[in-house]
Amino acid sequence: MHGFETRAIHAGQDPDPRTGAVITPIYATSTYAQDGVGGLREGYEYSRTANPTRTALEECIAALEGGVRGLAFASGMAAEDTLLRAVLKPGDHIVIPNDAYGGTFRLVSKIAEPWGVSWSAAPVTDAAAVRAAVRPETKVIWVETPTNPLLSVADIAALAAVARDAGALLVVDNTFATPYLQQPLALGADVVVHSTTKYCGGHSDVVGGVLVVADSALGDELAYHQNAIGAVAGPFDAWLVLRGLKTLAVRMDRHSDNAERVVQLLERHPRVSQVLYPGLPGHPGHDVAVKQMSRFGGMVSFRLADGEQAAVDVCNRTKLFTLGESLGGIESLIEHPGRMTHASTAGSVLEVPGDLVRLSVGIETVEDLLADLGQALG
Ligand SMILES: Cc1ncc(COP(=O)(O)O)c(C=O)c1O
Repeated sequence: MHGFETRAIHAGQDPDPRTGAVITPIYATSTYAQDGVGGLREGYEYSRTANPTRTALEECIAALEGGVRGLAFASGMAAEDTLLRAVLKPGDHIVIPNDAYGGTFRLVSKIAEPWGVSWSAAPVTDAAAVRAAVRPETKVIWVETPTNPLLSVADIAALAAVARDAGALLVVDNTFATPYLQQPLALGADVVVHSTTKYCGGHSDVVGGVLVVADSALGDELAYHQNAIGAVAGPFDAWLVLRGLKTLAVRMDRHSDNAERVVQLLERHPRVSQVLYPGLPGHPGHDVAVKQMSRFGGMVSFRLADGEQAAVDVCNRTKLFTLGESLGGIESLIEHPGRMTHASTAGSVLEVPGDLVRLSVGIETVEDLLADLGQALG
């Protein structure tokens, strides 16, 4: 098998057979001419069902994650929703992290629960606690690792064993790590989820999501739901994500380099009470992170000794770190999770601390990033 960077640039992306175009064209078409009734060219019939630009992305991400099938959606949430509707039915139970992306929590608690799915939250850092949360009707164990926004680390191999014993699927949201830094399917996960809006796209110019599976029967089931529900990635969006994937490896190395320098600055700063980064030897998940990640990525969270207002003030004072939601683009972003991305978790078991600030460290000149954070912290 080719190396990661080679797969990112070539998997699913042979030059166009008709023109030789080296870059996969954007097939902006809803339908396809048939050679006689039922005579489909390479299986293409209607673009909700399949589109060649989307196919290229789906094959590429499957190759990067080491899966047998990839499926691309209009957003990360569309991918998650399609997955949950495909693998759960009313009466089933799902274990979710007690520290998860707020939108995932909202989908489970506000959409899946009224439909008849029950859920429990467990700390992803504690495989025994996840095992204890399993019930006879548990069909899915869902984890993010590292988590958003607390950067907790789940032991994927240990949780895969818990899921196997429970007869449940292990779903890993690999958005923060990306397949360059961590490959959950090789560690025993059944499904990988991405918000490709983030590092996979990498340029903050597209919203998208993917699912990748290790089992082709599950892949067929998800493809059936993808077509039936219809929340697919359009060809322009699929093309942008595919372009992003080509440089994922070099971007993730630079994100990781810059994040390490930012962490050093924060660790020394008297106004910072705690730095959350899996690459720190003192991080509770560091040993597991070393085992399952090649590096630790560009996401860094930290807490302010002076409380919530101090955290909000830092977010308001940066100039190069743009105050905004989302993450994983080439530009650096800062946000206050409690009032922004994770506001929907307020009052729940997933509520995040008010003194928390989250950074998505970009790939700008690192000295400029350090100077900006320094002035914002004061
Ligand atoms: C870890 C994680 N998973 C899923 C999502 C949802 O993806 P999208 O915003 O593309 O729908 C996000 C979005 O922030 C996320 O951070």
